[in-house]
This record gives sequence, C-alpha cells and structure tokens, in this order.
Amino acid sequence: MINIAIFVSGNGSNAENITRYFQDHSQIKVKAFFCNNKEAYALQRAKTLHIPTVLFSGKELRETEIVLDQLKKYNIHYLILAGFMLKIPQNIIQQFPNRILNIHPALLPKYGGKGMYGMHVHEAVINARENKSGITIHLVNENYDEGVILFQQSCSITSDDNPESLATKVHQLEYKHYPQEIEKFIIADNKMI
Ligand code: GRF
Repeated sequence: MINIAIFVSGNGSNAENITRYFQDHSQIKVKAFFCNNKEAYALQRAKTLHIPTVLFSGKELRETEIVLDQLKKYNIHYLILAGFMLKIPQNIIQQFPNRILNIHPALLPKYGGKGMYGMHVHEAVINARENKSGITIHLVNENYDEGVILFQQSCSITSDDNPESLATKVHQLEYKHYPQEIEKFIIADNKMI
C-alpha cells in the first residue's frame, strides 16, 4: 500500500472527497488527516470517515519534529495538501521531495503567493474582471505556489458571478479532478522505481 496523509486546516470538503475516492482502492490508502486547527470541521469529517487525526500547532510544525515523527509513525509516502493554510517547513519538504501535492483554487502563476488563499483568491479574480479561473494542482517546493504544475483546468466566469459563486464552480472542479490527479501522479511515480 502507498500511504497518504491529507493536510487540512478548515472545512475539509476536499479531504473528505479524496478519502471517499480512495476508500476501496487497491494501492493507495488515506492514513490520517494532519490538521493545525482544533476547530476545523475537517476533524468531524475524519471521525465520520474513521480516519485518525494528528493535531499540531503552527509553532510545533515550524519548530519541532513532531509532525515529521507522526508522518513516520503512520508510514506516510505522500502528503496531500487540501485547504492547508500553513507553509510546509524545509525539514518536511526535504524528507518528501516531489511527494507533496497541493491544489490552488486559481490558474497559477496568476493569483498565487502570499495572501492568496481561500476567498481572497476568488475576490481578486472577480475584481480583476477575469473571464476565467480554475484549479492548479502542483508539487510543493520551498517557494509557495511555485512547484511544478501537474494539472490545470479552467472554468468560465460570467458577469453574474461573484466570489461565492466562483468558489462553488472551482470547488466542483476540485472534487472532480483532485482525487484522479493524485492517483495518476502516485501510480506513475511508483512505476518509475
Ligand atoms: C479549496 O478551494 C482549496 O483549493 C483551497 O482551500 C479550499 C479548501 O476547501 N486551497 P475545503 O476545506 O476542501 O472545503
């Protein structure tokens, strides 16, 4: 089995969707949710899904080996970020080179980088009167939102759209594509060994 950990900070609808997708998978297993927010709704979802959770603070993530130790304990091979709001520190990136995937709710390299998360992204896209947005699935490296892009898919924006309706469209794309792209990436990655 190839084991994945999902990193999540809030609602966790992608985390749940990914977990359900891999529930009866023959090669890939979601082993745990790693979460930095004890109020996150994702923790309730984990309970319903019978997935263990690892809770830690931002300080513990940045300044200790607690998270790394837990990743080892669960024998994790890949990290999947799904609405995770903190930066992954160097020590973890080094242990998982090209094995950390993130999804960004816009078409990178536009609308990425510092401050571009959650609704801020959709507000910026709407304010700039773009006629399309979408999703970007990419590898995580030392610089935020700058890792190799694995997949992009766009959706159109009409004059009726606002940040909320755009967020809904983008979420639909995320649900449809993120699990499949994770699966494709991991399987291709392991065929090369
Ligand atoms: C998603 O739009 C994801 O792309 C972004 O944060 C949002 C998380 O939503 N980085 P959810 O927690 O999966 O519902």
